[in-house]
Amino acid sequence: MKTLLLTPAEAEKAASILRSGGLVALPTETVYGLGASALEEEAVKRIFEVKGRPQDNPLIIHVAGPEALSEWCEAVPESAYVLAERFWPGPLTLVLRCRKTGRPYIPDRVTAGLDTVAVRCPDHPATLEVIRLAGVPVAAPSANLSGKPSTTTALHCLHDLEGKVEAILDGGPCRVGLESTILDLTVTPPRVLRPGGVTLEQLREILGEVELDRGLVLPGETPKAPGMKYRHYAPSAELTLVRCGDAEAFRRYAKGVPDQGTAVLCWTGEEDGFPGKQVLAYGRGDEPETLAAHVFAALRELDRPEISRILVRCPEENGVGLAVVNRLKKAAGGKILCL
Ligand code: TXA
Ligand code: MG
Repeated sequence: MKTLLLTPAEAEKAASILRSGGLVALPTETVYGLGASALEEEAVKRIFEVKGRPQDNPLIIHVAGPEALSEWCEAVPESAYVLAERFWPGPLTLVLRCRKTGRPYIPDRVTAGLDTVAVRCPDHPATLEVIRLAGVPVAAPSANLSGKPSTTTALHCLHDLEGKVEAILDGGPCRVGLESTILDLTVTPPRVLRPGGVTLEQLREILGEVELDRGLVLPGETPKAPGMKYRHYAPSAELTLVRCGDAEAFRRYAKGVPDQGTAVLCWTGEEDGFPGKQVLAYGRGDEPETLAAHVFAALRELDRPEISRILVRCPEENGVGLAVVNRLKKAAGGKILCL
C-alpha cells in the first residue's frame, strides 16, 4: 500500500484501483471515506470486513453530480434537484428510492436490502476527479474502524486502515470535520436522519417543514438511519458531556473530578483553570463550525491508555452545534450533564 499524492496520474491510479474492485481511502470535505465501486459486490463486501461493520448498515454512494440521481434512483422528487443545486458538492446526503430493475443498479449489499439509497456528491476536488475518472458510483463509509471516531486526516486513515486497503489518497485535513447531513426525501415532510454540516435551519429555509428523526431526540426510539443506533465515535475513555452557561461553571465542575486519568476538552481561549488535568481545546464555543472541524481529531488525540475519563464542554444545539452534540452524545452513550 502507498500514500498517493494528488497528481493527475495518481488520481487515475486511484480510479483504476476502484474500477478493478480495490479499496481506496478518499478525502472529502466531511471525513475520509473508505471507497469501493458500488457496482463491485466483492469490493463492497470487503469494506464491511475491513471496518468490522454490521451488514445491516447501508453505505452512501458518492457521485460526481446531480445527473447521477436519475441514473441510480427512481421517483426522484423535484426537491432533490433543488437541494443538489444549492448544496452539492457539499455535506448533504439524500435518501431516495433506489432503482432495482433494468440497467445495472445499486446492489443490495450497498443498501443493506433497503428500497432506498443514500446519495451524496462530496466537495473535494481530488475525490470528485477520482469519481469522474472511475466512471462508477463510489460506495464509501467513513474510513475508520467501526465504533471509532471518523478519520479527518490521511494519517488517521493510515492508523486505522494500514495494510487493509490498496491506497490512501491524501487530500489534507477535512474542512467540515463531521459526516454529512442525511436527509430522507422519501417521507413527508422530509426528515433529517443525521445532522451535519448542512444545518436544519438551512434545509427549512428551502423546504419549509423539515423534521428531525425521533430516534435522534427521544431516548428509546430507534433511529431510521441504521448506523445511528450504534455507540460510535468513541475513544476508550469514558466521556462526560457538560452543558453549562460559562467557562467558570465548567471549571468548578472539573475541580470536583479526580485529576488522575482525567482529560478536559474545552473551548479555545478557556484552557486555563484546570490544574493537574490534561487540557485540550477543540474550537470556539461561539463558532460551532470550528468545534465540528476538530472534534474527531481531539477524541483521537485523547484516545490514550493513561486517559480514562474525558470531560467535554458542549455547545448549544443550534446550527452545526446540533451535529457536534449528536456525535459527542453518541460517543458518551447518550448522557449529557446540564449544570
Ligand atoms: O460525510 C459522510 O457522509 C461520510 C463521507 C465519507 O461521505 N460518510 C459516512 O458514511 O458518514 P457512514 O457509512 O459512516 O455513515 C452512513 C450513514 C449510516 O448511519 C447509515 O445507516 C446511513 O448513512 N444510511 C445509508 N444508507 C441509508 C438509507 N438508505 N436509509 C437510511 N440511512 C442510510
Ligand atoms: Mg461512520
